[in-house]
Amino acid sequence: MALSNDTHDDVGAGIRWWSELRCPRCRGALRAEGGLRCGACPATYPVDRGVPRFVPQDNYAEGFGYQWNRHRLTQLDSHSGLPISRDRLFRASRWSAGELRGRRVLECGSGAGRFTEVLCETGAEVTSFDISSAVHANAASNRRFPNLRLVQASIYEMPFPEESFDYLICFGVIQHTPDVERTFKTLFRYLRPGGRFCVDVYAAMVAYTHPRHLLRPITRRIPPARLYSAVDKAVPCLLPLSTALHSVPKAGPYLARLVPVANLRYLNLKDRRMLRTWSVLDTFDWLSPRYESPQPRRRLERWTRELGLSEVSIERHRGLYVVRGVK
Ligand SMILES: C[S@@+](CC[C@H](N)C(=O)[O-])C[C@H]1O[C@@H](n2cnc3c(N)ncnc32)[C@H](O)[C@@H]1O
Repeated sequence: MALSNDTHDDVGAGIRWWSELRCPRCRGALRAEGGLRCGACPATYPVDRGVPRFVPQDNYAEGFGYQWNRHRLTQLDSHSGLPISRDRLFRASRWSAGELRGRRVLECGSGAGRFTEVLCETGAEVTSFDISSAVHANAASNRRFPNLRLVQASIYEMPFPEESFDYLICFGVIQHTPDVERTFKTLFRYLRPGGRFCVDVYAAMVAYTHPRHLLRPITRRIPPARLYSAVDKAVPCLLPLSTALHSVPKAGPYLARLVPVANLRYLNLKDRRMLRTWSVLDTFDWLSPRYESPQPRRRLERWTRELGLSEVSIERHRGLYVVRGVK
């Protein structure tokens, strides 16, 4: 990859932690020289607005980049005024803020940074990355934390030394990658022995029976801006219909499921406007990803056995399996 002209001039500011990065191709050390240059092979990596980039700008996650830059703040607790991301992170992981303080935490696929913010607030040394341009939304919101290291990279080629993190989280990501088993197994290479992890994934039996799968073969091919505009127009009609169906005694939740709109009524958001904004974001998030491969529990059990992970628990939280344990 050639050094680009967008190389930011704050290379010096990042020099201390950038020296801990590794060339994802040959594992060589990198030095700040314009962008980042590998000392062991010819590879060079640009630094875009202060964020080192290890993937081509055009990749399969373009829709995510669009979505998270458009909704940079929507799901951040500091913006919503609600502890939704904080509660989800600590409920799913069963970790405490206190135990993370000063520990090295790796967050894979950070999107707009709703969980990055929560992790940084604990005082952990947080390393976050995403394959898409969402890293720039995350940077804009969370740059204020001196304990955050942010790069644009892929799970398949992480620019970090192996076994160098104490904790690892990966929420909402692995079902959106081209090879979920490879993704899942790659994550653990970067966790030190004895390190703790929490990874979630769409549960197959819930997700595959959802009507969005009838639409996705078409919608995932629509350019993000066009799809977003269609979703933005449809949600104000579909959301009240979904909510009305929900209130039908007994059959309500099943009937509402037939309406292809993300209805976040269970989150008790502050008002109708907020519900609508979250609904547009999540409905787009259902329809746009290039890949969506929900997983059955038995497969997750097999993968964790094959990796020799210990203290493993796999719990269903709504439509997700949350996999926790120790390496
Ligand atoms: C549904 S979003 C979840 C973002 C964030 N974890 C959250 O829960 O708000 C999935 C994210 O995974 C990222 N992603 C997909 N494939 C990836 C890969 N191979 N490496 C890193 N990130 C990836 C996407 O760009 C996207 O931002």
